Amino acid sequence: MAIDVAPRADGPADTPVPQRDWWRDAVVYQVYPRSFADGDGDGTGDLMGIGDRLPALAELGVDAVWLSPFYPSPQRDGGYDVSDYCDVDPAFGTLADLDRVVDVAHAHGLRVIIDLVPNHCSSDHPMFRAALAAPPDSRERARFHFRDGRGEHGELPPNDWQSHFGGSAWTRVTEPDGRPGQWYLHLFDPTQPDFNWDSEDVLTFFDEVLDFWLARGVDGFRVDVAHALVKAPGLPDWGGRADGASSPGFPGHEAPMFDQPGVHAVYERWRERLERWGPDRILCAEANVAPLERAAKWVRPREMHQAFNFAYLHAPWDAVALRRVIDESLAAFGGVGAPSTWVLSNHDVVRHATRFALVDAAHVAHGHGFRADTPLDPERGERRARAATALMLALPGAVYLYQGEELGLPEVLDIPDDQRHDPYFLRSGGAVVGRDGCRVPIPWEAHAPAYGFNGSGSSWLPQPAQWARYARDVQGAEPTSTLALYTHALATRKVLGLGAGSLRWVRADEPAVLAFVNGEVLVVANLSDHPVPAEADEIVLESVPGAVSDGLLAPDATAWFRAPAGTGLTEG
Ligand code: NOJ
Repeated sequence: MAIDVAPRADGPADTPVPQRDWWRDAVVYQVYPRSFADGDGDGTGDLMGIGDRLPALAELGVDAVWLSPFYPSPQRDGGYDVSDYCDVDPAFGTLADLDRVVDVAHAHGLRVIIDLVPNHCSSDHPMFRAALAAPPDSRERARFHFRDGRGEHGELPPNDWQSHFGGSAWTRVTEPDGRPGQWYLHLFDPTQPDFNWDSEDVLTFFDEVLDFWLARGVDGFRVDVAHALVKAPGLPDWGGRADGASSPGFPGHEAPMFDQPGVHAVYERWRERLERWGPDRILCAEANVAPLERAAKWVRPREMHQAFNFAYLHAPWDAVALRRVIDESLAAFGGVGAPSTWVLSNHDVVRHATRFALVDAAHVAHGHGFRADTPLDPERGERRARAATALMLALPGAVYLYQGEELGLPEVLDIPDDQRHDPYFLRSGGAVVGRDGCRVPIPWEAHAPAYGFNGSGSSWLPQPAQWARYARDVQGAEPTSTLALYTHALATRKVLGLGAGSLRWVRADEPAVLAFVNGEVLVVANLSDHPVPAEADEIVLESVPGAVSDGLLAPDATAWFRAPAGTGLTEG
């Protein structure tokens, strides 16, 4: 199992100017490698494509990129089923291509965060294959959660836990002698066996994985399902959620597979390990726990640097709810000395331009895909998405953007069933639509094959016929485009230091209006259905052209004004 952690022979290019705490106000752009840019034209995005397109991200004005998994994988869950943690899947290229991505990124002042998947591996991983070949009670099996089944002949799963993708979280194996044998735990697909983090072998294996990538020059890790590594001793039955459902469920419910106290020792160990490589390599937790104070435990001073803000991601377009989640985020993360993070979209949720287009917001709050017949108002969705982005980019803390949101891309709802890949769809027999709709290859050029995703025109998921209008080249030439809004907002955020700033609410006359001051900027977001007064001398940014007119801010719009120095604003 030993991993060669020798640094690259050529040595990684210099990191951008070392800067302690760069992550506190960073804007991180998530690249989903299959769908960003395809260098070899086979229809699947790759590292060569990413390397070629990085200058566009530097131009956009982000500080870092996060690469979703590119490791060798049977791709049963979009690469979150890793069969080799220290290599690149041939579909995405080679280690040399990854090195080039790191070098090109650094040359453009961008840091590179990669996805680490420590809760589970692929059932094709050599460690799991060795476990299958080894007897019960062996050291190989102890690296995973193998148990005898219940029932007279061990024919029932060891406990009542459910997989996220549907069905039991346990699968029975056929022992090497051909008889039905033990069961193994998989919180996700059966091809994603959970590691046992009580095993010293697992701990040291991931130490080496971290060193392997740090030696190649990466700037940090986004840690997948960071709340699930340690399970409650004895893997007790869990009667299900308060609503009676038996699925593991998510925030707010104590669950024996999430948020166990022992998990934090793993991240303290990793933090210490990262710091051996210098002060500015980071860890970001995908810890989907609630309330926010619980998520903040992942970013206590000796643990990770950032944690995703799921409460913000799932907040509706509603002033009271947004103000509450902003306050709670700043208090919870600030309480442990960490910055809050903010996010509106990622590869697991319906794109926010489509979430905010729901005619009936109660229809589906977020989640794993919308059906093609979901009633939507796309114009309203686009308008609200721009307003939400303008609000988010004025908040103090770090921001995560998902590829394509800077183009205002909507979710693709009409992917034919036989072209869908997501295990949510496949394992539920289509009952759950799944996440393919936010993973469609993004458009670069309006009049090129596959909209410039590659030169061949092929695409692993079909791109909609009407996507030319979203292409980057079209929007780059249009001063009022969504791309222009992102570019302007990111540049202004940086120049005015909003990410490192602070937030002071000011009184708004209407409950559906949010208004706050951050440094030199007064931010007003109108979430009501009518224009509201918004007077200030200088407009710094409008979420849509003409949002402010005759002293009124239009509905579903956000504006940044030059804050009148110290006067005229009452605490709100
Ligand atoms: C969270 C990832 O974001 C998601 O895409 C994946 O399916 C699960 N973790 C399992 O790794």
